[in-house]
Amino acid sequence: MSEDKKRKVSLVTGATGQDGSYLIELLLDKGYEVHGIIRRASTFNTYRIDHIFQDPHEKNLRLILHYGDLADANTVRKLIYEIEPDEIYNLGAQSHVRVSFDIPEYTANITGLGTLRLLEAIKDYEEHTGKKVKFYQASSSEMFGAAKPPQNESTAFQPRSPYGVSKVFSFYITKNYREAYGIFAVNGILFNHESPRRGETFVTRKITRGIAKIVAGLENKIYLGNLEAKRDWGYAPEYVEAMWLMMQQPKPDDYVIGTGESHSVKEFLEEAFRCAGVKDWGKYVSIDPRYYRPTEVENLVADYAKAREKLDWKPKTGFKELVKIMVDHDMKQYGPEANAKK
Ligand code: NAP
Ligand code: GDD
Repeated sequence: MSEDKKRKVSLVTGATGQDGSYLIELLLDKGYEVHGIIRRASTFNTYRIDHIFQDPHEKNLRLILHYGDLADANTVRKLIYEIEPDEIYNLGAQSHVRVSFDIPEYTANITGLGTLRLLEAIKDYEEHTGKKVKFYQASSSEMFGAAKPPQNESTAFQPRSPYGVSKVFSFYITKNYREAYGIFAVNGILFNHESPRRGETFVTRKITRGIAKIVAGLENKIYLGNLEAKRDWGYAPEYVEAMWLMMQQPKPDDYVIGTGESHSVKEFLEEAFRCAGVKDWGKYVSIDPRYYRPTEVENLVADYAKAREKLDWKPKTGFKELVKIMVDHDMKQYGPEANAKK
């Protein structure tokens, strides 16, 4: 068998997202051939993976990008038959909770039904080829919704948004295809995880980027919604390792991944302004009700004991360190020095 045949092959949906980019780096480091699904856009949308992009004209490519969409079952199916992946990571989603109230049907179609489209294609592929494919579903702590913290694998879901409801559908359809058809399908129930690559409209990045722009004199306010909500925030690169570990277990199962600590949005704000050396932060922040959600998730705290025991996984980066990583990055990218250079 040639070297190429022995190499593990993975397919990643959501390849251009925060987690997709870190996961692809990890899989490439581990020697995988990685196929990523990206959406066609009229503007470039690959900035998170540009640093690992490989020119399709090169020989022995290990990162191959394909156009596709989770709304398009045909293409997804065709790609699975063509690529013959050993592992599929389904990270693609309309992933913004507030936006899911504005576009609930689209969110259900992509974040919910998109998972079913993949699983149906895997079921057919396994039946017709006799080959096995492992499937990772990006489940979310948003599924716990109103459930009292701490939340673990036994906590009943009480979703509070069209996004959360769509993820609950995906969770159960993944479990159902595991039980009904023997597919190696796992749910990683990940609590919020952040990084300098976090989308700019999620609250942590909105804050760190906003502060850098305020310090550079480019903006004078950050407009936010509910400052009292609490989240269990971890560091994204560590969370993609947990995804991979779940896929290497002898049996498929579901795991909660988080830090076990929660902080309010207000605490994140205070810490971020402190890191940037700005006092009297109150004058730079205003509340805009448009950022409130019709139904809010008040407090998420992970009980990740199962992952610690079975996967030997635990978080390494604490809350303050995470805030510093993000502030330092955005100060470099948008702060006074970056602005002067421009
Ligand atoms: P993200 O940065 O918003 O990335 C989402 C990815 O999905 C992007 O690559 C996006 O493509 C792609 N996508 C959107 N609509 C699509 C469609 N119709 N077809 C195919 N791809 C589509 O999200 P993330 O933070 O990396 O999260 C990754 C996954 O984990 C998501 O499923 C998210 O819901 C879930 N999750 C995230 C967290 C967290 O705290 N980050 C926690 C729990 C679960 P474009 O770049 O073209 O928009
Ligand atoms: N986005 C946003 N923008 N959130 C705000 C704002 C604001 O201006 N002001 C306050 N918040 C509050 C939200 O109401 C919420 O309680 C909290 O900040 C976190 O919001 P997000 O950063 O948007 O994250 P999320 O918790 O709703 O969803 C993220 O984590 C989920 C896991 O629990 C996303 O990454 C989801 O895809 C993921 O599943």
